[in-house]
Amino acid sequence: MLIICSRLHKKQSPPYVFIIWPFGKNPKLCDSLFNLFIIVMETVIITGTNRGIGFELTKQFLQAGFHVIATCRNPEAASDLNNLANDGNLSIFQLDVTSDESVSDFFTSLSGKVVDILINNAGIIGGDSQDIYNMDYKAWIQAFEVNTLAPFRLSAALIPNLKLAKRPRIVTVSSQMGSLNRKSTGSYAYRSSKAAVNKVMQVLSAELIDDGIIVCPVHPGWVQTDMGGQNAEITPHESASGLFELINSLTMEHSGRFWTWQGEEHLW
Ligand SMILES: NC(=O)c1ccc[n+]([C@@H]2O[C@H](COP(=O)([O-])OP(=O)(O)OC[C@H]3O[C@@H](n4cnc5c(N)ncnc54)[C@H](OP(=O)(O)O)[C@@H]3O)[C@@H](O)[C@H]2O)c1
Repeated sequence: MLIICSRLHKKQSPPYVFIIWPFGKNPKLCDSLFNLFIIVMETVIITGTNRGIGFELTKQFLQAGFHVIATCRNPEAASDLNNLANDGNLSIFQLDVTSDESVSDFFTSLSGKVVDILINNAGIIGGDSQDIYNMDYKAWIQAFEVNTLAPFRLSAALIPNLKLAKRPRIVTVSSQMGSLNRKSTGSYAYRSSKAAVNKVMQVLSAELIDDGIIVCPVHPGWVQTDMGGQNAEITPHESASGLFELINSLTMEHSGRFWTWQGEEHLW
């Protein structure tokens, strides 16, 4: 007799127990139970998980029974993340998303493994000086490294793993501050890096249609994190809850479009 314990996608749902044996003579029923199990045990990779939105996404995907591969630059110092580690579904990896070497090591460790969802969450604001009279160009380049180049680098590296999944998704946490449709001032580095990553994800979505890989940039709301500040409109929990629902509802129809944490389409 085979007993499989897991949880359904619904947050905080109780553990479910599937007993597969008497159905051994009914292969169709066995197959559907097996498929259900596979869906429940999807693997999600999230970058920048030691704090902020990434940490909250990690918590919520774990609560829902996913296998979470949580990455951050310095796992030893990631105390909140390490406190979640007694959940057997959590694997923590060191990853600096701007480093070719770090991404390559990470990719090698995942060789041949199925990845259902990649969430490019790690991001930076791009320095304190981002106006016409005072621009920190080094920080601007760094913003492009983290916010624009890294989501592409990681997505490209993980395509072989994503191709093994039933409903592969690449979700990049962008920002409405990069939207060309909104009139805005200042924050040149941040805005331009997010506008650019939106375009990168739109192009990627077109190139990955035939592989069935869904690609979406998302706006997480204005969130109370180190980046968003305490005056922001929503908590990390609210943002991650909305993103969780959105990510689990994505289909090819959504691919190549920009979405908000509330599941509404955003103008580019
Ligand atoms: N908060 C908002 O209101 C808001 C609004 C729109 C979009 N966003 C976007 O949402 C995402 C998450 O933001 P947040 O508010 O949670 O920011 P946060 O609290 O400042 O966290 C940023 C995360 O990114 C990580 N990170 C930065 N550079 C990295 C690198 N080179 N390699 C790996 N990880 C790196 C940080 O790790 P370290 O601790 O090692 O630095 C941290 O875990 C970002 O992409 C941001 O642009 C946020």
